[in-house]
Amino acid sequence: MKDFENELEKQFLMESAPGAYAMFNGKLYSYFGGTSYYELHKNDLVINSAVNAVKQYGISSSSSRNSFGATQLIVDVENEAANYFDCEDAVYLASGFLTDQAAIQALLNQNLFDVIFMDEISHYSNEYASRLSGKPVHTFSHLNPVELEDKVTTICSGNLRPLIITDGIFPIFGNLAPLDKYIDIAEKHNGIVWIDDAHAVGVLGENGKGTIEHYKVSCDRLYFGATFSKAFGGYGGIIPGKKDFIKEIKCNQIFSGATPVPSPAAAASLTGMKLLKTNHELRKQLWDNAKKLKSGLQSLGLNINNTHVPIAAWSMSSKSKMQNLQNELMRKGILIQYVQYVGAGEMGALRIVVFSTHTTEQIDNLIDELRKTL
Ligand SMILES: Cc1ncc(COP(=O)(O)O)c(C=O)c1O
Repeated sequence: MKDFENELEKQFLMESAPGAYAMFNGKLYSYFGGTSYYELHKNDLVINSAVNAVKQYGISSSSSRNSFGATQLIVDVENEAANYFDCEDAVYLASGFLTDQAAIQALLNQNLFDVIFMDEISHYSNEYASRLSGKPVHTFSHLNPVELEDKVTTICSGNLRPLIITDGIFPIFGNLAPLDKYIDIAEKHNGIVWIDDAHAVGVLGENGKGTIEHYKVSCDRLYFGATFSKAFGGYGGIIPGKKDFIKEIKCNQIFSGATPVPSPAAAASLTGMKLLKTNHELRKQLWDNAKKLKSGLQSLGLNINNTHVPIAAWSMSSKSKMQNLQNELMRKGILIQYVQYVGAGEMGALRIVVFSTHTTEQIDNLIDELRKTL
C-alpha cells in the first residue's frame, strides 16, 4: 500500500484523452507520461468504432462467456489477435493484470512446471500470479541470466522443471528482458518461459509483435500475454498461443466466471490492432522519437539505455529533489512523472515516456528545460 500513498496524495486528474498534450486539473500540459504510445486512445477511427459498438451492443453483454455473454465482437478480437501475433488462437480477458494469473494457472493445469523463477522486479501482476500458483517462487536479480541459471541448476538439480517469469519491457526504466538467454536456460533445463509483454506489444519488432519478434526467437517453450490498454488504444488482456493452451485458459474461472470486456473497449482494441498491423510508419515515428528523447537525456549526463523502447527513467539522491524537478517542469507546462511503483526502487524515479505524436520541438523543449533544472 505504501507504494501508492504518494501517488494518491497528488491527485492528478486527467481531464482529456491521453496524448502528446493532455489536460490535468484544468491545465494543458506537454505530456510525457502513461502508456498511450501512439495516442490511439483518442484516434478518430478507434473512437468511432467504439461509439458504433456501444450503439449496437450496449456497454456490455452483461453475462459471462459461458452463458450468453459472448459477442461476435469479442470473438473478432480473439481472431484478429491470433492473426496479429501469428498464433493458432487467442483469448481475450477482462484486464491485462489477469493474463498472468490465467496463463500461469493453465500452465500449472497442463503440468508443465514445478518451480517458478521470477525477475525480482516483475510487475505486480506477475508476482500475484506466481504466488497464487502455490508452487515455490524464487526471484533472481533484475535482468540477470547468469544468476538465474545458477539458481535453476542448484534448485532444480536435474528433475524439477523451471517456469521462468519476466516482463518483456519493464514499466519504469524501460529495460528489456534478455529473452534469448532465458530461452536457452529453459531449453537446457526442460523448462518454460512466461513473458508479460504489456509494454512491448505494438511497440517492439518490425510488425509490433513485441519482445519475441524483437529478438527474432521462436520456441515451443515460450508463452506470453499482453494488454490492449497501452499501445493499442483499447482495453483488456490478450493471450495468444497454441490451441490446447488457449483451450485450457478457457476452462479457467478467470475466463468463464467474468463478463467479457465492455463493447466500446473491445471495438477500440480491434481497431487499434488493425491500425498497428498495417501502419509501419507509426512505429518508425515512435522509434525515432525514442532515439531523440534518449540521446537528449544522455547529453544531460543521465544513464539511459540505448534501445528504441519509448520509456526512460532515472533516480536522484532524494525523493524531494525529484518532486521539485517534476514541479519545476510543471510550472513550464511539461508533465513528467515522479513515480513510486514496482521497479522504481526505494526512492522512486522520474519517468518519461515519448509518443509517436510528440513533435521534435516538444522533445527539444523538454530536454532544454531539464538542462536548466537538473
Ligand atoms: C507489465 C505490466 N503488466 C500488466 C499490467 C496490467 O495491465 P492492465 O492495465 O491492462 O490490467 C501493467 C499495467 O499497467 C503492466 O505494466
